[in-house]
Amino acid sequence: MTLQIGSFQLRPGLALAPMAGVTNHAFRLLAKEQGCQLLYSEMISAKGLIYANNRNRSLLYFTEAERPFGLQLFGSEHAFLARAAEKLEKLGPDFIDLNLGCPTRKITSNMEGGALLRQPALCSELFKAVVGAVSCPVTVKLRKGWDEQSYTLPEIALRAEEAGVSLITIHGRTVDQGYSGKADWDAIKEVKQLVSIPVIGNGDIDSPRAAMAMIDHCSCDGVMVGRAARGNPWIFSEILAQLEGLPLPAKPSLAEITAMIVKHFKLLIALKGEAAAAREMRRHSVWYIKGLPCSAVARQKLIYASSLAEVEHVLEDLSRTNQSQ
Ligand SMILES: Cc1cc2nc3c(=O)[nH]c(=O)nc-3n(C[C@H](O)[C@H](O)[C@H](O)COP(=O)(O)O)c2cc1C
Repeated sequence: MTLQIGSFQLRPGLALAPMAGVTNHAFRLLAKEQGCQLLYSEMISAKGLIYANNRNRSLLYFTEAERPFGLQLFGSEHAFLARAAEKLEKLGPDFIDLNLGCPTRKITSNMEGGALLRQPALCSELFKAVVGAVSCPVTVKLRKGWDEQSYTLPEIALRAEEAGVSLITIHGRTVDQGYSGKADWDAIKEVKQLVSIPVIGNGDIDSPRAAMAMIDHCSCDGVMVGRAARGNPWIFSEILAQLEGLPLPAKPSLAEITAMIVKHFKLLIALKGEAAAAREMRRHSVWYIKGLPCSAVARQKLIYASSLAEVEHVLEDLSRTNQSQ
């Protein structure tokens, strides 16, 4: 499975899903170290970018190690999107991705994110405006449609291709579904047969076997993993091994998990300072230790931890408790 984006040939096309509040520079580096091939920023508001310059600093931050890397924009007015895309291109991403899938009411009530799926003609305008504004590849991330009654995905995928979009990612749910129910992989398969640009499949890949199953089912050019990567960057090395027909790596030991938490925390501190890093790290720590034996007490402490020293202390206690079991 090879995925072409710009001058990059990715073998295999294995992507980390953009997730607001989760996949900033720190977590992306960890995913990349585990073999993830394609990274995106969290979504960035086109209007916010034009009006409020500095608020986006950590959202926009990326390094050479993350390439190929895309900055993701959301918005619904072609003038703003085009200006924002020009501004983003100056930062040197390898591509710019447009978000047409976010189901959050705050976003859709402004006709942004997933709400655009109700307006195929407007989508064409936006695609053309952004493709015309930048010289790097433009990609789009779509859902199936607004709800089951408005299955606009095939039409919008064709419009994207016609407008010069380079790659389409599809999360096989409607906006109305949010994250409930099952992702519809048939919709991904249908678009893959319809367009000749690369298609990445997304939705419910939570294991190497699921990644393989999506590729078999959809013949897509790449797969994208979201929620299953939270607290589990190792999923990328497992999927890589599966796709290459190699034995799956052993599950991470408790020592590897605690070392990953500390590494993640340190990267976040470098990105945003210890206080903000500690607040963000609370949810990550809980994801990392989920399902570990004797982790209930550690979880209670980690959700209030406010420094690296505190987290290290809790993790030492957790390791000691596990050794004595
Ligand atoms: C907390 C969270 C934040 C998300 N933020 C974004 C985002 O900024 N941009 C985007 O295109 N999708 C976003 N998504 C959707 C994911 O990229 C992905 O499409 C979705 O989670 C389905 O994939 P999965 O089943 O592997 O989780 C977000 C999802 C979650 C759970």
